[in-house]
Amino acid sequence: MDFHYKDGQLYAEDVKVKEIVKEVGTPVYIYSKAHFVEQFNKFDKAFKREHTISFAVKANSNLAVINVFAKLGAGADIVSKGELFRALKAGVDAKKIVFSGVAKRDDEIEYAIENDIMMINVESEDELEAVNRVAQKLSKKARISLRVNPDVDPKTHPYISTGLKKNKFGVPHNEAFDLYLKAKELPNIEIYGIQFHIGSQLLDTKPIYDASLKIAELMRALSDKGIEFKVVDVGGGVGIVYNEEEDKEPSIDDYAKQVEEAFKDFNIKLVFEPGRFLVGNGGILVSEVIYHKTNGDKKFLIVDAGMNDLLRPSLYNAYHKIAPVEKQNREEIVCDIVGPICETGDFFGRDYKIEDVPNGEYIAVFSAGAYGFTMASNYNSRPRPAEVLVDGDSFRVVRERETLEDLIKGETI
Ligand code: LLP
Repeated sequence: MDFHYKDGQLYAEDVKVKEIVKEVGTPVYIYSKAHFVEQFNKFDKAFKREHTISFAVKANSNLAVINVFAKLGAGADIVSKGELFRALKAGVDAKKIVFSGVAKRDDEIEYAIENDIMMINVESEDELEAVNRVAQKLSKKARISLRVNPDVDPKTHPYISTGLKKNKFGVPHNEAFDLYLKAKELPNIEIYGIQFHIGSQLLDTKPIYDASLKIAELMRALSDKGIEFKVVDVGGGVGIVYNEEEDKEPSIDDYAKQVEEAFKDFNIKLVFEPGRFLVGNGGILVSEVIYHKTNGDKKFLIVDAGMNDLLRPSLYNAYHKIAPVEKQNREEIVCDIVGPICETGDFFGRDYKIEDVPNGEYIAVFSAGAYGFTMASNYNSRPRPAEVLVDGDSFRVVRERETLEDLIKGETI
């Protein structure tokens, strides 16, 4: 019972969205804790083998949201010092944190080693040397995995496809073998795992299975050289339904079976880095309709949220369902739903059919729980929206709306 309509009113769990908006204003991100918990449990229960779910906090890094997962036993997949800082603040067990990313600086590596995270997912030979050097300076051994690029097509949007040879991510499959042999000789490196992540918003998980088979084959070859692993990190990428008419949610049970099958011969623990699957459909962005406007034949619904608040439609031409917060059987219109930003690409929906919403009333943009607030910016000097977490019949602001003073914090003339 996350987001649903009752008598034409949109509810977040047991709270009327309009009630939240009256108190907190717009634009506002509203999250459903029940949805987060349900998705986590669905994922968790699908696996029979020992595993850790390390929530990809880039999808939604609000402290309260990370904390919901930490309390359920989740770890975190982080890609920066800032994300590690957040994860630790939110109460995530450092031993369940994995660190991905192609451009880790020495200070970030140092912060990770000092906090004794599970492992650093190394993405190049240069990085492997950097990790060894930093660990040496700290007189420690750093646990690592190599992020292997298996060259498998995830069949998703090119901007969020990461496991092809032409992408910048990971160590090419055919070079990973030699790099593990090198890692074995480095004094301050402990080989702990092997990782891959081929892309995001996968509605078919078969490419993850194909990649798993390639990784398993590599593991067999490395085993012959005396290299064994404690964990296999399968990355994230499981998709969600954005468009109820077109998308079909992948079966987590099938995904679990495929992954477990691929690694059945190995005595390892599985690690997962889901982001979108856990939070995507657990959030909405609510915005007020400011004006109606017609340019020739074209109708526009102008709202008070923009691409700076939710970038996905502008950046990926991503579809998000949009609907009135209060449905009143008004006539339907076909319009572009646009924001205040001075860019033609500032839209949430184009030629979108929606029940007309009068000025001063509200619309909800659905599936905004993942890569929504985290990709928001202050472009056009707009304070970023508030974030609210609903839990049953109560809600609380888990991030205040930014103020004008926040906009100039740290600046001098
Ligand atoms: N692990 C790694 C190493 C990743 O790079 C990512 C996402 C994940 C896990 C989590 O993937 P997920 O389970 O959420 O698919 N901004 C884009 C998505 C970018 C994903 C980047 N990496 C969007 O709004 O669709």
